[in-house]
Amino acid sequence: MTTLVVASSKHGSTREIGERIAEVLRTNKGVTTVVEDPQDAPKWLASVNAVVVALPIYAGSLEKDGKAFLDTHRAELANKSLFVLVSGAGPEFDGSLRTVLEAYGPKELGYFRGALFEEKLGWFEKLMIKVAKGQYGDFRDWPAIEAWGKSLATRGAS
Ligand SMILES: Cc1cc2nc3c(=O)[nH]c(=O)nc-3n(C[C@H](O)[C@H](O)[C@H](O)COP(=O)(O)O)c2cc1C
Repeated sequence: MTTLVVASSKHGSTREIGERIAEVLRTNKGVTTVVEDPQDAPKWLASVNAVVVALPIYAGSLEKDGKAFLDTHRAELANKSLFVLVSGAGPEFDGSLRTVLEAYGPKELGYFRGALFEEKLGWFEKLMIKVAKGQYGDFRDWPAIEAWGKSLATRGAS
């Protein structure tokens, strides 16, 4: 069987996290993996037994395409091993978003700091970051992300 990694990403950093999860599952655990964005992922659903959904937080909400994937395919995902990874700017995961995601029944729900590159943002996003006093930089903790990815093999990613 195959593990599908659905990487929802506006500026690419969550996509890279999804790709790294797929890579560690493949190279360290011998799991066949495929990485897709939420639009292209549905075609795989019938042939995978595990799904990792990686999505970022934007303006206090879960990124809409990743969230729409979870909503649209809720019934199919209920029959699979589901894992959710969230990336955001803060050091801690917002409790209300955690509650929202727990309702989908993931076997694991991980939160990791993401990355924010000024040159990738439009003027409005830069303004939002300025108002929120956000910090630019790459805060992804790759060893922690890789450890989380490897651990999924013991929880049903195969
Ligand atoms: C305009 C904007 C708004 C954001 N709002 C939030 C937020 O409300 N909470 C949060 O934790 N992170 C927030 N972030 C940080 C992103 O979640 C983080 O940079 C993430 O890694 C981006 O993922 P991506 O590169 O895959 O799009 C925001 C980033 C931008 C650019």
